[in-house]
Amino acid sequence: MENKQTTIAVLTSGGDAPGMNAAVRAVVRIGINKGFRVMGIYRGYQGLLNEEFRELTALDVKDTIQHGGTILYTGRCKRMMQPEGPAEAAENLKKHGIDALIAIGGDGTFRGALEIAKHGVDVIGIPATIDLDLACTEYTIGFDSAIDTAVDAIDKIRDSGTAHERISIIEVMGRKCGAIALWCGIASGAEEILIPETYDYNDKALIDRIKEREALGKKQHIIINAEGVGDSEALARRIENATGIEARATILGYMQRGGSPSTLDRVKASLMGEQAIECVLGGRVNRAVIEKNGRIRDMDLEEALNATKEPSRDLLGVAKNLVRRFTKEEKEAAGTAEQ
Ligand code: F6P
Repeated sequence: MENKQTTIAVLTSGGDAPGMNAAVRAVVRIGINKGFRVMGIYRGYQGLLNEEFRELTALDVKDTIQHGGTILYTGRCKRMMQPEGPAEAAENLKKHGIDALIAIGGDGTFRGALEIAKHGVDVIGIPATIDLDLACTEYTIGFDSAIDTAVDAIDKIRDSGTAHERISIIEVMGRKCGAIALWCGIASGAEEILIPETYDYNDKALIDRIKEREALGKKQHIIINAEGVGDSEALARRIENATGIEARATILGYMQRGGSPSTLDRVKASLMGEQAIECVLGGRVNRAVIEKNGRIRDMDLEEALNATKEPSRDLLGVAKNLVRRFTKEEKEAAGTAEQ
């Protein structure tokens, strides 16, 4: 009897992340090279529920590795949060003869995949989100490109802030995770980095530090504020009112998700796509592709979703140590030394 060809499906879901195309490309190219039939599902889980399936060839993914966004389109799907959503999704996958679904995205995408697995379809998750907020993995596709884009924008805002001798509050994305803010803050030489994991919402202490620096001659200040802390416009008003220094807020927003993926994202996405195919080939199902100790591996999907992590102590430490401390003499000269 002839062996049935394995059919896999691939989708991207949740917020787009630079490098998603590289991951899709790896799944399609390596999948086909290993003998699989590969179906693309368009528009994430919504497309899965609407049966937007199309077979993908190696040529369909040509000229895609260098582009941001996702050729499969993406979205957030409320129906997948209802009990009937994952059941219907699994039914559709079975109807189309899919042996395994490879879902590329973040936390919500992984949770959707796990629910589908409970209805008898094998799934593999590939982590792709600019937020770096999946605790199971050291890396998520899109993070490197997003921080490069954000730092480039922050450098430009700094030029303008320096010219006007202003306080610039720059809000970066990241949902409840401060990783983007922390990396961007260190890389852009920010005076203050506010992240939801550690910020104590003590405006007074923040304002006192700004006032002290101002008294010592510092004319412009960069504050990187994580989306999870938020409230950047109001924070700018409070700081301006309390210090008398002009303060402006910039919310970087969706530009952080766009643009050509970095080399790192393209390579990690290719490795992660390959790992997902290796999982299917090796019969390891309901897995999350992860990076651990710098190597691409896979682990049980449910365990992956239960993992927790703290912000990097090293990054928090260096961010603190990099802030310029004024000498006693400087403070005495400015009259801000404690008596
Ligand atoms: O998860 C990526 C992300 O850009 C977050 O940083 C942000 O909170 C969210 O997506 C925005 O989502 P949406 O595209 O649904 O507005």
